[in-house]
Amino acid sequence: MSKEVRAVDWTGSGLTLIDQTQLPHRTVTTHVQDVDALVDAIRRLVVRGAPAIGAAGAYGVALALLQGRREGWSDDEIRAAVARVRDARPTAVNLMVCVDRVAHRLPEGLDAVLAEAAAVQREDIEANHAMGRHGADWLLERTGLDRPLRILTHCNTGALATAGWGTALGVIRELHARGRLEVVYADETRPLLQGSRLTAWELAQEGIPHYIQVDGAAAGTVLRGHVDAAIVGADRIAANGDTANKVGTVGVALACADAGVPFLVAAPTTTVDLATATGDDITIELRAEDEVLEWAGVRTAPAASRGHNPAFDVTPGRLITALVTEHGVLEVSAGQLPGDQAA
Ligand code: MRU
Repeated sequence: MSKEVRAVDWTGSGLTLIDQTQLPHRTVTTHVQDVDALVDAIRRLVVRGAPAIGAAGAYGVALALLQGRREGWSDDEIRAAVARVRDARPTAVNLMVCVDRVAHRLPEGLDAVLAEAAAVQREDIEANHAMGRHGADWLLERTGLDRPLRILTHCNTGALATAGWGTALGVIRELHARGRLEVVYADETRPLLQGSRLTAWELAQEGIPHYIQVDGAAAGTVLRGHVDAAIVGADRIAANGDTANKVGTVGVALACADAGVPFLVAAPTTTVDLATATGDDITIELRAEDEVLEWAGVRTAPAASRGHNPAFDVTPGRLITALVTEHGVLEVSAGQLPGDQAA
């Protein structure tokens, strides 16, 4: 197995990020030493994925403190800088939760802030490995299949999207490690291609067999019986189980519901937001129109066309078979599964 990727790392005086906008062509890191640069990196998806921006935001509190000391900021100015990191993107609750957790330690000084941020990072990695085990156990038992599984996933939920290992992709990696994975169908994930650029890059590094398919192929692949389960990550899970994730996720869930294929969400409990009652209350980030009107910087749409570019959609809880967290698997709307007959 290749060396584990670290999307977010604290290196003494600042944050080192893998620049995910450059993958898969170039593996380059960027060093972030001030709050403006971190906010820009989060907005441009240099660092992305709910747990990864949570970890970056956690260290962002240390960045604000250090920059404040260099530039003579007041406590209020440091808090305002922390708030800008917290608000860099609106949908993933991990960013807010992790920033708030670390900001709580600000009165104790830099060592306490860094220790808390390191704990956020460490706990995320541990949670991901636990999710991998729970999710793989559940899939093998509840699909009732004794052959290697064919799994569909959407967006990127691997080491790049987290502090390490991955959520949904962590489950996939665990199945592969157990010799129980046949192939992954990775949706390319328009318009920024997190599937074809990032998930495929991680799968290729691990030697995991995979197909990249256009997002529009996903429903047909499910309905034709080519996959045994779909598993995705989450940016925010409302109290009623409705789940925001990368745009295109709800279409996969609808197809799975129609075909009777398990649709799993894998996310750490930091992604569950009990203060948000339903999916309707989740703020969905609207990104720049150009991302859908252009291809590699070249306009592909008529000059008069407008772009609608929600970065996420909400899958109703009723379409989610099970939620995989670090504590185990919660069957949300499992209904009758093939494994029930086998038991
Ligand atoms: O816009 P992105 O690339 O940050 O969106 C990422 C996703 O939607 C992921 O599926 C989600 O954050 C879970 S990552 C473990």
